[in-house]
Amino acid sequence: MKYVIVLLLSSIQIVLFAQQFSLPNLKFTYAEYEPFIDMKTMEIHHSKHHQGYVTNLNKAVAGSPFENKSISKVLLNVSNASDAIRNNAGGHYNHTLFWEILTPKTSSQPSELLLKSIEETFGKLDSLKTKLNQAAMSRFGSGWAWLIVNEEGKLQVTSTGNQDNPIMDVVAERGVPILGIDVWEHAYYLKHQNKRNDYIYAIWSILDWGVISQKYEDALKDTVLISIKSDNWPELKAFHKVMSNTFHAAEKKDFTQIMDRHQELMIKAFLLKNSEIPVLTIDERVLIVKSLEKLEKQSMELNSFISANKKVTNGVIMKKLTAIHASFHEVINRLL
Ligand SMILES: [Fe+2]
Repeated sequence: MKYVIVLLLSSIQIVLFAQQFSLPNLKFTYAEYEPFIDMKTMEIHHSKHHQGYVTNLNKAVAGSPFENKSISKVLLNVSNASDAIRNNAGGHYNHTLFWEILTPKTSSQPSELLLKSIEETFGKLDSLKTKLNQAAMSRFGSGWAWLIVNEEGKLQVTSTGNQDNPIMDVVAERGVPILGIDVWEHAYYLKHQNKRNDYIYAIWSILDWGVISQKYEDALKDTVLISIKSDNWPELKAFHKVMSNTFHAAEKKDFTQIMDRHQELMIKAFLLKNSEIPVLTIDERVLIVKSLEKLEKQSMELNSFISANKKVTNGVIMKKLTAIHASFHEVINRLL
């Protein structure tokens, strides 16, 4: 009986202390990446730098709206996150991808499907190599060079600074990365010192084209790509702008904004409800439509109330605006 209780308590402890994100294991030992990447660099890069991003990310998301969200959801909505979440979520995602696409077993080739797409976009594999190397070499300071599947489902070479990546809603060129080259000095300094070029040359020798080809196929049907497209929902943005100005002003006891713009708010709610919802599964779409219907009804009621009552009480307006605000966040939360 005693042992059962001890076992039970340990299980509870494991559950209680389970971290949201964890360091992935490498597929090979640190030494196996020699001579392309030296053992010490691999060890420090993985066990210290990447572990640092994981530890700090777990700390940063605790108690935030991003607690218990997937890494993709965090990245897709990172504009609403702290710098600590942005830097460490990027650091964790980017390095996880980096380890996956490296193999010391050289001489793999892109799949037929990926090669066809590379040739369509860049002419030939060597041209892609040149373009990606240029992106890696010209990235000033720390950052990454990427091969991504963009919003149109096409291959594209991009580059981001620090630990940003193309999934984030704060970068200009967005998409799902299938190949990333880490150009932080911590990735090469011990062996190559300041010669970033030598390091990039070495990376091409250990790319796992089998993994990259699979990532290409997965990216084409990835819901992350659909979510990136949903950022282009102009009716949602237009409604948000009016709601934000009127609601936040009212929170500060300024009701002049909503008195001037209640009709505009209702029209934007109508346009939003009737717009094309650029997201995800049918189930999610149904729930979003329900929230949008509620949002439209509440906006109409507020408009009628203000129009019909010359002596309206601010308390009633605030209550109605708060309900509209809550419905709007129902929609946003379903996108998360
Ligand atoms: Fe790195």
